[in-house]
Amino acid sequence: MPERNGPDDERANARATERAHAGEAERAGPREADRAKERGTPPDPSRRELTAWAWRIPVLAALGFGSWGLYEGIRTHFFKEDPDPDPTFEPGPTVPVAPLASFDRDWAEAEFAYRYAPAIALRLPGPVPGGLTVAGADGEELHLAAFSRVCTHQGCLVTLNRDVEAVAFAFNHRADGPSLTCGCHLSVFSPDRAGRAVAGPAVRPLPRVRLERDGDALIATGIEGAEPPDAPYDGERAV
Ligand code: FES
Repeated sequence: MPERNGPDDERANARATERAHAGEAERAGPREADRAKERGTPPDPSRRELTAWAWRIPVLAALGFGSWGLYEGIRTHFFKEDPDPDPTFEPGPTVPVAPLASFDRDWAEAEFAYRYAPAIALRLPGPVPGGLTVAGADGEELHLAAFSRVCTHQGCLVTLNRDVEAVAFAFNHRADGPSLTCGCHLSVFSPDRAGRAVAGPAVRPLPRVRLERDGDALIATGIEGAEPPDAPYDGERAV
């Protein structure tokens, strides 16, 4: 016959169980202890460990983003690359650009494509490294240069922006003349500084396209080593 416990034994057992739970709850800390008391179950140690780590996640994420932002800020502000004063052009196909007569004033422009990439030729107020200076019809000097329009940041297209005030307001860069601007992340490139990136996240200059004179016309015959943009861009890409 199994031995049956009397009411006194059952009460003693209940008190012993209660004391055991209270002891575990006390060891688990005040909040866990309360919960454990309510549940009547001992606290889960792995859950306690997770809770102890959880607060670190947003702090670490904020520190990571903050450091990355600081690094990018310093890099894009202080480490913009100068265009090569003596650029090396990769030879390419001969492509007609425009008649020389169409560059009848400073900042006249002609768009064309070189190796499937949109490019722009400009008449500038002065000579730039990698550009071309030729005699115009009336004997005056024409200073010309051409640039790839593919932004070196993430590959959007730059356009010639003639509104100096608009560039100062929208791109936070005050220039003396027109600029090549990228609307994607607001980079600004200076044509009269040989395509140097002067504002925004782009660091590398625009690749220059080699121009040559062919009678009364301008032709393109090569392009400066065009590295891929700094980072992949998933939106509309130029090439
Ligand atoms: S793609 Fe031109 S600034 Fe980002």
